[in-house]
Amino acid sequence: MSPGQAVVQIAPSILSADFAALGRDIAAVERGGADLIHVDVMDGHFVPNITIGPPVVRAIKRVATRPLDVHLMIEEPDRYIEAFVEAGANMVSVHVEAVPHLHRTINFIKKLGARAGAVLNPSTPAVALEDIAGDLDYVLVMSVNPGFGGQAFIEASVDKVARARLLLDAASSGAALQVDGGINRDTIGAVWRAGADTFVAGHAVFSASDPRAALAELRTRCEHEA
Ligand code: DX5
Ligand code: ZN
Repeated sequence: MSPGQAVVQIAPSILSADFAALGRDIAAVERGGADLIHVDVMDGHFVPNITIGPPVVRAIKRVATRPLDVHLMIEEPDRYIEAFVEAGANMVSVHVEAVPHLHRTINFIKKLGARAGAVLNPSTPAVALEDIAGDLDYVLVMSVNPGFGGQAFIEASVDKVARARLLLDAASSGAALQVDGGINRDTIGAVWRAGADTFVAGHAVFSASDPRAALAELRTRCEHEA
């Protein structure tokens, strides 16, 4: 375990939940031990899929007891950040590829009182965060190309997580290190060993017949690697 690596946090992504029964599905994963609720926001431009906006985040906020971790996969996120925080986002992450002034955007999120994260697509190197590491509350390494749940984990992400871990530790940054995409019982151990501490999982949790058991299994896999 790296000195900067925090305890395991699991963030179920509601992208794989039943959208007609979101409250029920969120309650189930919270009972099962979810640490965060990961909300995937897509605009049909930055990624080839469309999901939800602030009104749905506001509705989720009424029922969720865990912090809402809002992952913005949208163009011009600066235009919408305030609306998401007002709707109840506790954490907001923006893609490095989508903002021209990352330092400004990260500090804007923090000024609004939310935790601020920067996200790297699979083709964006970890070093893109070198000069902002000290300002970040968390980094999110995408281990699939964003847009859809249930995709296969990109193996090169393990090395990317290791490089992000080194970069954060070198900057004495207390930022958490999330990984998102294709996380399941077979892939989580390697990314935990590489230095990630927060794991987004959609399909592996919501498609399981017993979400509580699925969450426990993910946690156990990390402990076995510790
Ligand atoms: C992908 C989203 C992910 C996704 C993860 O674009 O950002 O959060 O829902 O889903 P799984 O765990 O099914 O890969
Ligand atoms: Zn996500």
